[in-house]
Amino acid sequence: MPTTHSDHSDDHTVRLTVNGEERRLNVAPSTPLLYVLRNDLSLNGPKFGCGLGECGACMVLVDGRAARACVLPTKAVAGLTVTTLEGLADGNHLDPVQQAFIDEQAAQCGYCLNGMIMTVRSLLNENPTPTREQLVAALDHNLCRCGTHVEILAAACRAAGLKGESP
Ligand code: FES
Ligand code: FES
Repeated sequence: MPTTHSDHSDDHTVRLTVNGEERRLNVAPSTPLLYVLRNDLSLNGPKFGCGLGECGACMVLVDGRAARACVLPTKAVAGLTVTTLEGLADGNHLDPVQQAFIDEQAAQCGYCLNGMIMTVRSLLNENPTPTREQLVAALDHNLCRCGTHVEILAAACRAAGLKGESP
C-alpha cells in the first residue's frame, strides 16, 4: 500500500533528492525511507530483509554514505541526497562496483547484493584505496544467507583495485 498521504497538507511534506530527481513527499514522520522508496517511488533495488537494521539488504547512500533505509525515518533525510542502486550507473555505464560484482559473478540468489554493492561504494567514496581488511570490516554487518562471502569479497577487492590479492 502506498505510504504517501492523499491530502496535500504541508505538515508531513518532506523534500529530498532521489537519484538526482527532486521529490516532494507527503509521508507520516516516522515512515521508514525504505517503504517510501519501494512502495511510492517503485525503486526496488533496496530490499526488505530483517527490517531491524541488522542485515544490510536495504542499504542506500545518503549524501554518499551508506545508511539502512529500513530504520531511517524519511523525515531524517529531508533536504539530503539519496542514491539507490538504480541511481549508481551513469547512463549505460555501470558503477565500477557493480561491474566488479558481475566480473566476479558474486551472486547466488542475489538478495544481499544491493547492500553489499552500496556498502562498498560508500567505503570507496570515503577512501578510494582501502585495504582488504578495511573492506572486510565495512562488509562485516552485511548478511549473505547463501554463503557467497568469498566471491563478494573478491568483487569488493576488484572494485578497490586489489584484484591481485587473494580474497
Ligand atoms: S532490511 Fe534493513 S538492515 Fe535488514
Ligand atoms: S547471494 Fe543470496 S543472500 Fe547473498
